[in-house]
Amino acid sequence: MPKILRKKELAPNIYLFDIYAPKIAASAKPGQFIILIADKYSERIPLTISDYNVERGSVQIVVQASGESTKKIAAFEEGENFKDFVGPLGHASDFCDMDLESLKDKKYLFVAGGVGTAPVYPQAKFFKDHGLHCDIIIGAKSKEFVILEDELKSVCDNLYIATDDGSYGFKGLVTDKIVALIENENKKYDHVVSIGPMIMMKFVCLTTKKYNLPTTVSLNPIMVDGTGMCGACRVSIDGKTKFACVDGPEFDGHLVDFDSAMKRQRQYINNKKTKTIKDHH
Ligand code: NAD
Ligand code: FES
Repeated sequence: MPKILRKKELAPNIYLFDIYAPKIAASAKPGQFIILIADKYSERIPLTISDYNVERGSVQIVVQASGESTKKIAAFEEGENFKDFVGPLGHASDFCDMDLESLKDKKYLFVAGGVGTAPVYPQAKFFKDHGLHCDIIIGAKSKEFVILEDELKSVCDNLYIATDDGSYGFKGLVTDKIVALIENENKKYDHVVSIGPMIMMKFVCLTTKKYNLPTTVSLNPIMVDGTGMCGACRVSIDGKTKFACVDGPEFDGHLVDFDSAMKRQRQYINNKKTKTIKDHH
């Protein structure tokens, strides 16, 4: 049973869980995700893996309690069991299968936003463990929503924090910080990886395109089965339909049709609201 070994509140309504899942821990790679089912009444929630420990047999996830199902997950306590925990799903990040020697003189920039900061950790840790170089930008609404700062600082060359209200670090959006690093601090990057809200990834890609900077994004559309059968997670990549669960979750950000992906996300939320109101009556 997927038992909760540790629970920690990282920020208001944002919780870290270490879950006992030795088989998943043994085969997980950066970039992959799991599907969590809290109890027999809950829907399947896809969550990108934020760390794993083979010795302890644990897999870490970070959940923001926003909807009905994620609020239910957040209410679970240490020692309790979730109903189901399936994975690892999706492809690992591209760099896991690249010639690491060729990456040694490259510099990556990870751009993390809000809860999307958590899945950046295993990717940057991979860089650190293999003697590779990266900088990280964490973007958050305000200081209290900056998560995993010490963890990320320990696995990168430079960590930059940007808050929308200026309560901590740079005042502005992550996109403003990217421009400031390149234009004012003469930073040179070979590749950007961006994980966070869809709207953030869209604007990160528009920014990096101006600098011809290859950019990978981790998409988190609605998922149902997570096996490529239901089509719920379909996204348009370079005009072709792909399923984020089996073809992704990471894609070339400059080829993603973010507007249609965001429209589908909004439609799902609106349909769900209508359904809940109908169910209630
Ligand atoms: P948020 O709204 O606080 O945004 C985080 C940062 O993104 C901001 O501080 C800002 O720097 C940047 N940002 C936001 N809008 C922007 C814009 N228009 N232009 C440029 N930069 C912008 O983030 P949150 O509330 O923590 O986000 C939650 C969302 O993240 C949820 O929708 C969740 O589904 C998603 N998420 C995605 C992944 C993933 O794998 N892609 C993982 C976890 C969470
Ligand atoms: Fe069903 Fe991807 S979640 S096809």
